[in-house]
Amino acid sequence: MAISLKGKTAIVTGAAVGIGPAYARALTAEGVDVAVCDIRQEIMDLPAQLETNGVKAFAMVADVSRPEDVREFVDSTIGALGGIDILINNAGKCKVSLAEDGLDKTLDDYEEMVGTNLKGEFLMGRAVIAQMLKQDRGGEIVNIATDHMFTCGAPHDQCPKNPNCPWADAPRPTSGGHVMDIYDASKWGLNGLMFAWAQALKPHSVRVNGICMGATDSWMIRDFFRFPQNSAEETDEQKKEIATWMAKDDVAQVVIDLLKEGPGGRNANNINLCVGRPPKLEPPLPLLYIKEEALHGDA
Ligand SMILES: NC(=O)c1ccc[n+]([C@@H]2O[C@H](COP(=O)([O-])OP(=O)(O)OC[C@H]3O[C@@H](n4cnc5c(N)ncnc54)[C@H](O)[C@@H]3O)[C@@H](O)[C@H]2O)c1
Repeated sequence: MAISLKGKTAIVTGAAVGIGPAYARALTAEGVDVAVCDIRQEIMDLPAQLETNGVKAFAMVADVSRPEDVREFVDSTIGALGGIDILINNAGKCKVSLAEDGLDKTLDDYEEMVGTNLKGEFLMGRAVIAQMLKQDRGGEIVNIATDHMFTCGAPHDQCPKNPNCPWADAPRPTSGGHVMDIYDASKWGLNGLMFAWAQALKPHSVRVNGICMGATDSWMIRDFFRFPQNSAEETDEQKKEIATWMAKDDVAQVVIDLLKEGPGGRNANNINLCVGRPPKLEPPLPLLYIKEEALHGDA
């Protein structure tokens, strides 16, 4: 049975543009008080919109790759909202990077993407977990990853034999591409955090899961493909391509459904949302990288 999220408190990072504001809006529609941060100044406009749902909202300009920003944002959130039950680790950066790139470009790209996508999620997790343990009322961490790093590990020809296989009647997604080595590495790194955190935090009823979605309409994907941010300026060809992407509100609803599973729900699970299939919360996949017992405190 789905639990109610009303009265809980949440953080959404990277909520100025893209999918982040959709997570924040979906949470406030469920009666959750929400704190948001972003490196963009326009994040300060979001609380006024969120509060129309009758909840408290708080915003701060903060860079999740900077420990001092993370500390200040998390402390200020606790001050403004009284605690933290849910962390949506969403802030992300994506750029083309190639094995052939020169060292200087590579280092800049590495700092930018690994700094936000992996170090940022790590820092936010560390700061929020300490608060969740202090509160001693459980919690939820959702790391936003990508379908590039999603694999169930099963050989392709065995997929249809798994009743929960999300690719049973769809093409199996590839794991990224040769033009995104740093982005993909930063997102694969999230598995390390998820598996370790889920095991360590299970005795405290804190769940840790990952959302591994494919193309979803946002500032990032339009920028990546050099598509206009304004739909009025799209060509017919671009409109056709955009129509294949997932809608941010549908992805946000999957996160809400995941949170509503409550403490007895799936844990250490990557949830794949792939283009060509309606985004919805499928049954959890079997754990392939850690033992099920490890999540019950009796490993
Ligand atoms: N859109 C997609 O197709 C897609 C697919 C798979 C995964 N994702 C992931 O979803 C997440 C959101 O992506 P999006 O498409 O909405 O991107 P977006 O660029 O549209 O929005 C990302 C937001 O994060 C903010 N941000 C970036 N670096 C930050 C930092 N260091 N500190 C604080 N805020 C920061 C940006 O300013 C922006 O507001 C990312 O982690 C991304 O990798 C997106």
